[in-house]
Amino acid sequence: EIQPVILSGGAGTRLWPLSRTKYPKQFVKLSNGKTLFSETLERSAAIGTNDPIIISNEKYRFYIQESLIEEKQKGDIILEPIGRNTAPAIALAAFATLEKSDALMLVMPSDHRFLYPEDFYASVSKAVSAAEKGYLVTFGVNPTSPKTGYGYIRRGDVLSDDICKVSRFLEKPEKATAEAMLKAGGHYWNSGIFFFKASVYLKELEKYAPTIYRGVASAWNKRFRDLSFIRLGESFSLCPSDSIDYAVLEHTDKAAVVPMDGGWNDMGSWEAFYEVSKKDSSDNVCVGSVMTENTGNCYLRSSGRLIATVGVSNLAVVETKDAVLVADRSRSQDVKKIVDQLKLEK
Ligand code: GDD
Ligand code: MG
Repeated sequence: EIQPVILSGGAGTRLWPLSRTKYPKQFVKLSNGKTLFSETLERSAAIGTNDPIIISNEKYRFYIQESLIEEKQKGDIILEPIGRNTAPAIALAAFATLEKSDALMLVMPSDHRFLYPEDFYASVSKAVSAAEKGYLVTFGVNPTSPKTGYGYIRRGDVLSDDICKVSRFLEKPEKATAEAMLKAGGHYWNSGIFFFKASVYLKELEKYAPTIYRGVASAWNKRFRDLSFIRLGESFSLCPSDSIDYAVLEHTDKAAVVPMDGGWNDMGSWEAFYEVSKKDSSDNVCVGSVMTENTGNCYLRSSGRLIATVGVSNLAVVETKDAVLVADRSRSQDVKKIVDQLKLEK
């Protein structure tokens, strides 16, 4: 039994100005007319045996309902009054799963894309027996550069054909450490997708982050139904905030890793959007109303007004009603810094 769990409570600040706290990137339509969230629902239906459990923020409840209707799917929606990061969110999903059975939870972020989802499904199938044996299975992507925004997984002893124990998990390392791991070999990027029995996750969480465990357990006991949503009281905000990566994976000795390819991409920045989108003959990606003259290698995205470019290259230009971003494409990670500045001004 595979219980899909979709995490969808993050705000995606590096995709400003399109992604806003009120309208985060997972609900923004891509050039194929779908949202990242709908694509995650599709994968969930393809590999899951149950309807998904969706963990999100109260702010996003209508986006989620709309997407479920569009995709003709049903799901249990758990709404957090405030984000407490992924360790508590996944614990909520584990408690919800256990109401029915101790199924294998397939935890999927809603900000990823796959060029070949079949490869991902194959990796999940390979990992079933390890997850049933009580491992916390991670999906490892071959690293191509020393990115510091990812978790790094070092391969340990072989469990079966393709699956290894994790000998070390390091979340978001320093650049030099990431470089050293790439050089040493035997490391993967953590894709942020996880596969384990609900009971095993809760046991490890209780062991390594007991205050999170207790905070979530008590909020879960006070949950209430509101229309078709499961809501939590304000007491959820007392739970410490931490990610599954820091709170559990860096400490547990029960982690395993299965390699995954599938053309995985974490849609974390405009650069990632550029990489996965169709280019014109000058290697530009144009979305919406765009005109180019002597322009190359640009990501140009308009949500209303016309963008016209002449004689420029390697830019990301993103137009919205009240803000326009113009950035060097290779610096698109730094958009986050603008958002931080905006927050300070508030
Ligand atoms: N419900 C809920 N509540 N969801 C959340 C919350 C929360 O408080 N915080 C984040 N999420 C969701 C995000 O929307 C996203 O879908 C997913 O959880 C992962 O959170 P990110 O904030 O995007 O994590 P990250 O990208 O920094 O790091 C993770 O993913 C990397 C790969 O993309 C880690 O697992 C890294 O190790 C990994 O390499
Ligand atoms: Mg992410």
